[in-house]
Amino acid sequence: MLASRAMRLVIKIVSVLVLVVILSITAALIVIKRAGIPTYPPGKIELKVEVTPERVERGKHTSEMLCVGCHLDNETGTLAGKPMPDLPAPVIRSYAARIRRMSAALSAGR
Ligand code: HEC
Repeated sequence: MLASRAMRLVIKIVSVLVLVVILSITAALIVIKRAGIPTYPPGKIELKVEVTPERVERGKHTSEMLCVGCHLDNETGTLAGKPMPDLPAPVIRSYAARIRRMSAALSAGR
């Protein structure tokens, strides 16, 4: 008798907690639905990097270690990208323009 009372109390407490969690999530979803996901204008970034031969060499080394595997176009020898057939179709379709843009920006020294 005592055990089942204690059990009922535990079940009540757990039920109330679950209800509180569900209501909190629902309230949060309603607020987000009405007000939208908050956005913030990005702050202006002042980034000035002094270009030195050592830094250029280090960047070249880093990109050779980490980036060329995916971004190097073997035909042109540039970071223009290449097809990645193992990725889902939407990614493959979108890669070319973006990576070429990035590569053009890199070539232009920006
Ligand atoms: C595992 C493969 C992989 C590696 C490694 C990789 N990338 Fe990428 N990168 C991608 C893919 C895929 C995209 C997305 C292309 C798209 O959105 O169409 C991308 C996009 C980018 C973009 C955005 C281009 C744009 O215009 O939106 C930049 C910048 C970039 N990569 C830089 C780098 C750098 C720097 C490294 C090395 C530190 C690197 N990536 C390593 C696969 C890779």
